[in-house]
Amino acid sequence: MKMTGKQWLKVAKMSNVIWTPQPRQRAFMERWEDEALYGGAAGGGKSDAMLAEALRQVDIKSYRGIVFRQTYPQLEALISRSMELYKAAYPKARYNESKKVWLFPSGAKIFFGYMLHEKDKYNYQGKPYDFVGFDELTQFTMTQYEYLRSRNRPTGPGTRVYMRATANPGGVGHGWVKERFVSRAVPNTTIYTRETVTKPDGSKIKVKTSRIFIPSTVFDNPKLLENDPHYIARLAIMPEAERNALLYGDWDSFSGQVFTEWVNDPKHYEDRTRTHVISPFRIPAGWKIYRGFDWGYSKPFSVGWYRIDYSGRMYRIRELYGCTGEPDVGVKWTAQEVAKKIREIETTDENIKGRKIFGIADPAIFAENGGESIADMMAKEGVFFDKGDHTRIAGKMQMHYRFAFDEEERPMLYIFSTCKHFIRTIPTLVYDETDVEDINTKTEDHIYDECRYVCMENPLPPRENILKKIDLGEDPLNQRVQNKRYYFI
Ligand SMILES: Nc1ncnc2c1ncn2[C@@H]1O[C@H](COP(=O)(O)OP(=O)(O)OP(=O)(O)O)[C@@H](O)[C@H]1O
Ligand SMILES: [Mg+2]
Repeated sequence: MKMTGKQWLKVAKMSNVIWTPQPRQRAFMERWEDEALYGGAAGGGKSDAMLAEALRQVDIKSYRGIVFRQTYPQLEALISRSMELYKAAYPKARYNESKKVWLFPSGAKIFFGYMLHEKDKYNYQGKPYDFVGFDELTQFTMTQYEYLRSRNRPTGPGTRVYMRATANPGGVGHGWVKERFVSRAVPNTTIYTRETVTKPDGSKIKVKTSRIFIPSTVFDNPKLLENDPHYIARLAIMPEAERNALLYGDWDSFSGQVFTEWVNDPKHYEDRTRTHVISPFRIPAGWKIYRGFDWGYSKPFSVGWYRIDYSGRMYRIRELYGCTGEPDVGVKWTAQEVAKKIREIETTDENIKGRKIFGIADPAIFAENGGESIADMMAKEGVFFDKGDHTRIAGKMQMHYRFAFDEEERPMLYIFSTCKHFIRTIPTLVYDETDVEDINTKTEDHIYDECRYVCMENPLPPRENILKKIDLGEDPLNQRVQNKRYYFI
């Protein structure tokens, strides 16, 4: 749906007063898709565009729009900018501070909301909104976004129902936002998805939905550069990952990423140097085989099969990930169903079948909680596990040691290119804001957990690229590591 003349008039009404969209903002505001994400870098005029977009339908009496930020202090900055914009465009509009809502002369309303905790989404239960906007979407979880999407319903006749978001790379939502909007298609092109919706009578229908990513950077916001010529200089002196994310909108490198050493380089899938991802190959019969498992029901479960060569190098050769297709949403299989699928794979996969398999799982699956444990239910199907060591930081370090490249540019953990969920989720893990040494468990960390348990079964001595500076001749550990064919580099 292109913007109609009447709709542009409303924006123009504002522009006559104080605001007119800059070209990239206009490109975003002209989109017709159900969902659109704008941004990718700092200072591109994201918040202004969001505020202007929310205003589009305020001449319709029943219209209710809502704009979110994660925290109240962040929201205040947005509200204060709305005081300038909305007041100028609609002098008769009133802002109610306690309810955080603008009331327009027609009766239309624009709310401001924040969701610091996951459960805060329920504060918006039962209320329809024609327009839902998220400023800085990567600060939210996908479940919060999806919940509000279910509240994105018409409030009356004649309103357009849609969602808009802005974001920078990084943050707890980096992974799912990137997957949903950024990596699925070339920017500025429409992504179509089919979703199953349950009607009130229980029957299911398929609906087609559309979304798009409109990238922008600070260079698209001449107004900001005019007012603050040093803005770019300030971004330019930031650490590399942060600079690439904030200045250029680079979604592959951002501050807070845990496995910054991760490399997926298709040019080296065959020679296996300086890449963690490699082409699958037929594995020699004698290599040990492990099966890692992290249980999940409404969140994905994860099963990974690993083989270990005679030097201790590990290969993730196969995965079974219980995800619906939407990141971090589980398929809700029972323990029996998961076990049956595991059996099927283990009796058919050429690299697995007919061999002794060591099963290692999250110790939580042994809990009985008044009934049969998940582990027992799976054992009945012939799938057995031992309790994994879930010491968190030690497990994370084991993954770092395994990812480190040795002097031949080879890591101690390779991933078959067919393990697409491992490849998708591991680079998106970010640090926790309070427990800064550990992974933020709000991210999609199920595959990481399962891999960590297997790594802990086969621990390596410390192995970091930074140790390259150590003179191996004088390193007392040298003896030990060389015997095991582990190298400090
Ligand atoms: N169309 C416009 N007309 C006038 N000023 C604008 C326009 N768009 C943005 N600006 C101004 O440029 C500055 C940065 O814009 P804005 O805050 O919207 O960017 P942002 O992408 O949200 O930045 P950040 O990443 O810091 O949140 C603000 O002072 C804003 O008012
Ligand atoms: Mg902003």
